[in-house]
Amino acid sequence: MIEQLLRTPFTELTGVRHPVVQTGMGWVSGPRLVSGTANAGGLGILASATMSYDELERAILEVKSRTDQPFGVNLRADAGDAGDRCDLLIKHGVKVASFALAPKQELIAKLKDHGLVVMPSVGAARHAEKVAAWGADAVMIQGGEGGGHTGSVPTTLLLPTVLDAVDIPVVAAGGFFDGRGLAAALSYGAAGVGMGTRFLLTQDSAVPQAVKDLYLSHDLNGTVVTAKVDGMPHRMLRTDLVAELEETSAVKRLGPTLKRTLEFKKSSGMSWVELAKDGRAMKKTQGRTLAQMTLAANTPVMLKAGLVEGDTAAGVLASGQVVGVIDDLPTCEELIDRIVLRAVEELRRGSSYLV
Ligand SMILES: Cc1cc2nc3c(=O)[nH]c(=O)nc-3n(C[C@H](O)[C@H](O)[C@H](O)COP(=O)(O)O)c2cc1C
Repeated sequence: MIEQLLRTPFTELTGVRHPVVQTGMGWVSGPRLVSGTANAGGLGILASATMSYDELERAILEVKSRTDQPFGVNLRADAGDAGDRCDLLIKHGVKVASFALAPKQELIAKLKDHGLVVMPSVGAARHAEKVAAWGADAVMIQGGEGGGHTGSVPTTLLLPTVLDAVDIPVVAAGGFFDGRGLAAALSYGAAGVGMGTRFLLTQDSAVPQAVKDLYLSHDLNGTVVTAKVDGMPHRMLRTDLVAELEETSAVKRLGPTLKRTLEFKKSSGMSWVELAKDGRAMKKTQGRTLAQMTLAANTPVMLKAGLVEGDTAAGVLASGQVVGVIDDLPTCEELIDRIVLRAVEELRRGSSYLV
């Protein structure tokens, strides 16, 4: 394990040793991966969108039993119980609250009052401006090459526009996997990098080995962005199932969609009223249609089938394009150490060009 070699506004803000974030990935970012990252000096973020409230509390306690280092939790800002989940983070002294989509201003204020660092994810400069004005401490950007729900603007263009728009620390995500990327992001002016796919492909991630092997076999053209799973652009591995979804009509997809919605209702323990409430919040914050909201309940089930149960014929596998340049499964510690060492080397090399 290496000592701190890079001090950035992000390491200062969060108290982690290295400016490297393991992002919140549904079904993937569980206690083992998060504590592995935290113990290696990075910021591990638990994904809570696919956990019930009780599961989240158990996961937080498990991380705390495995590490005394700071860590974060990723929350869906539009979830019906987002306020209760924030109280849970406060109760257990979680250091960082990460949000997919913008949290309400009151929620940001409450978390900050209790000493949490608030870091929403943004996909556009205007979103960064909005959450910065509401008091967010930092933002994470995700460029179009990133895995999961994603936009179309690449990291190389999104990052500078967000950096120009706000003066809080910006963490760059989407397409990062090594120390050259970290050095490049820092040179742009970012305060750190976030990585999803790279951390999914570590020994500490609980994804089944056969699924990791499938990821490793994909090249740079091995992902596709499809809106056929939940109505929103979602980058995932190019598999036979995704190809089939892309080709099937909405009418044909309706039966399986309803079946998975029922499965999600059962496994999440949510009532129809709660599902409808969540759906209404999605509609309000994301402008989704009713059909898209029904599809949204599909996503957790399809991701679980792939990422947890290893059933790649029934499940989808979210992935960044970066999967095409990853060919090993290091531990979190090996990964973070080599990223930081290489970044330092690249930054030194870069500064040697100065005349
Ligand atoms: C399997 C998987 C699941 C994801 N789930 C979530 C999620 O639940 N919430 C979220 O905010 N982002 C999610 N993402 C996006 C990541 O947090 C991260 O922003 C993205 O992976 C960065 O791009 P990269 O894969 O190129 O590193 C997911 C990504 C992947 C690959």
